[in-house]
Amino acid sequence: MTIALGCDHGGFDLKTIVIGHLKSKGFQIKDFGTYDANSCDYPDYAAAACDSVISGESDLGILICGTGVGISMAANKIDGIRCALLGDVFSAKATKQHNNANVMALGGRVVGAGLALEIVDAFLNTPFSNEARHQKRIDKISDLEKR
Ligand code: RB5
Repeated sequence: MTIALGCDHGGFDLKTIVIGHLKSKGFQIKDFGTYDANSCDYPDYAAAACDSVISGESDLGILICGTGVGISMAANKIDGIRCALLGDVFSAKATKQHNNANVMALGGRVVGAGLALEIVDAFLNTPFSNEARHQKRIDKISDLEKR
């Protein structure tokens, strides 16, 4: 499985930790930056990583900024992206089961590395439920992109 990653300066340290974790688990990585702690604009990195998910180059995406808020907002402007800002393991599992989220976001200044990696593992290891009631609701989210 290939994971696209993107962050701004507020997420750079945590992204480095997440990448090391994913590599140790055997995931393929596409790192769309940023590549240092210099100030930058999170929408640019959200777009690059999400484009990789939409094109099928990557299976899922992980985005990190200081809070996770801005980069998740940017991601959810992109047609076909369902990005969940996550701060707990229960929601990480539920957003895959119910929302079939294809991207997750973390706040590098909010969650510690230990919790962040548990959230990442839960997100990557939980499949979509494939239940019709959930697919119907996801289809309604997609319909909102046409408004
Ligand atoms: C950068 O200072 C910060 O605004 C950004 O990382 C993020 O938290 C925005 O939502």
